[in-house]
Amino acid sequence: MPVDIVVGGQAGDEGKGKIGAYLAHKNDYDYAIRVGGPNAGHTVFYEGSIYALKTMPAGFVNKRTKLVLGAGTYVIPEWLEKEIKLTGAERRLIIDPHVVVIEPRHTSSERADARLMGKIGSVGTGLGAAVRDRIDRKKLMFAKDHPRLKKYVKDVPELLNKALAKGSKMLLEGTQGMKLSVLHGEYPFVTSRDTTASTFMGEAGLGPKYAGDVYAVFKPYVTRVGPGLVSKELKDKKALNKYHTAGREVGSVSGRLRRVGEFELDVARMTVRINSATKLAITHIDLLDGADISRGIKSFTGGAKKFLSTLEQVCAVYPYPKVKLVSYGPGLMDVLEL
Ligand code: IMP
Ligand code: MG
Repeated sequence: MPVDIVVGGQAGDEGKGKIGAYLAHKNDYDYAIRVGGPNAGHTVFYEGSIYALKTMPAGFVNKRTKLVLGAGTYVIPEWLEKEIKLTGAERRLIIDPHVVVIEPRHTSSERADARLMGKIGSVGTGLGAAVRDRIDRKKLMFAKDHPRLKKYVKDVPELLNKALAKGSKMLLEGTQGMKLSVLHGEYPFVTSRDTTASTFMGEAGLGPKYAGDVYAVFKPYVTRVGPGLVSKELKDKKALNKYHTAGREVGSVSGRLRRVGEFELDVARMTVRINSATKLAITHIDLLDGADISRGIKSFTGGAKKFLSTLEQVCAVYPYPKVKLVSYGPGLMDVLEL
């Protein structure tokens, strides 16, 4: 089916950017679509540079792929313009007219809210405040009204549906993860949106019939940048250091050191159910022992092998996904396809 979807199975930062970029490179999608806010950082290591994207689809790595922001996207224009330059997207970016512009008043009101910034641990980009204004039907600026964004604006649902009719292939890149969904996550320690596949389709202007493979992305452990549940949280400074250095577990938008806990089977099972995941993508396997496959060895041993075998319990949940991609390093092609 024509629209593959990437979703996060934990508390965000599972490596959706890396998996999205790899898939776009490999599967040569005609369109890469992103929805959500700039509180979500997606990191891509590509051709010797590190791209910490907040808005652009990670699929930019395929120069042929057109880049789309759906109606469920919220942008900070200055940040977006930097990313357009950085990713060379000027001539292949398409923005839905209903994309919401996060204004300075949104960002400042969120940052001034001690409860949000403290108890909930908001990233402070103003996404939540903009979502709230939209729900309150207050006056907002949309991309179609923005002097520098309106040149990218096209009717995205019409364009994508016409492209689907002609057989185009698309990658829909979601943001955050299962634990952070305002519908199904660990309320109140959640973001201001739902973070599951069906919502991403709706936010892009696509109906459910066109969903193809749903890739649920997991790390062999769980991280969280803000407060909220972290099972068996690692408190030992020395042990944590490995995650914060080799694992680069530092918030890409917030700059905070991420908390680390053990892999949560129950959350992973829920991710498969709610997203109807058909494929699992594992990242950061190199933080386990037995994952040193960079020298041409084609299988995992030790802790990595043990972790992959515990995933059988996740694959036993309907619709019975298969472990498809295992990422063992930050580089675009550091991926083993099973
Ligand atoms: P907010 O969405 O900025 O209000 O943040 C709410 C909670 O979700 C906080 O704990 C954030 O740290 C977390 N959060 C929001 N976006 C992301 C993300 O992209 N990755 C990881 N955590 C996130
Ligand atoms: Mg992130």
